[in-house]
Amino acid sequence: MKFFIDTANLEQIREAHEMGVLDGVTTNPSLMAKERICGEEACRRHYEAICRIVDGDVSAEVIATDFEGMIREGEALAAIHPNIVVKLPCTAEGIRAVKWFATKGIRTNCTLVFSVGQALLAAKAGATYVSPFVGRLDDISEDGVELVAHIVRVYRTYGFATQVLAASIRHTRHIVQCLDAGADVATCPLSAIRGLLKHPLTESGLKQFLADHAKVNG
Ligand code: G3P
Repeated sequence: MKFFIDTANLEQIREAHEMGVLDGVTTNPSLMAKERICGEEACRRHYEAICRIVDGDVSAEVIATDFEGMIREGEALAAIHPNIVVKLPCTAEGIRAVKWFATKGIRTNCTLVFSVGQALLAAKAGATYVSPFVGRLDDISEDGVELVAHIVRVYRTYGFATQVLAASIRHTRHIVQCLDAGADVATCPLSAIRGLLKHPLTESGLKQFLADHAKVNG
């Protein structure tokens, strides 16, 4: 399973990259706004900065909701760097844009996916990635991880090449559950990635090793 970080924060991207486990980055308009990135030129420079840190796919989302606007913005985003993946919402216009980009050989991430039917349309249109939102489904008492598993089953049954990118991951357990569900990618906040490291027996074991070493070596 590939690991993406779900942030536009350069420090966090750098930290995850330095751990040596980062395969890519996903952003969205909310995450870009959180970093106070404002205007087309600033966005372009920010995506360039991300691409300088990480040698992997970087999802950059369009703001337009109409087909022509999505194409215009998506083409500009794709031109920034070969690792940019154009992120498009799972709407009728978005699916049409996914298809358009697929025919041009431009990679896409179809986002805001909350049902297997939406995931089917994204795959049929030729999306590179589909992003089911795990945490937001859990927020409304649905089962986000089960949706990931369902999409994985359907894609494997029918041989779709679209990769299942589990998004809206909120905590470490979600990552492990998405592993079990067969997700191709999980895009996670840094806190959830750090959480994978934590185990009290690792901490106490290391403490003991160092104490024993110090007894003999001073
Ligand atoms: O990748 C999508 C993600 O950023 C949404 O996460 O926590 O806002 O539901 P969240």
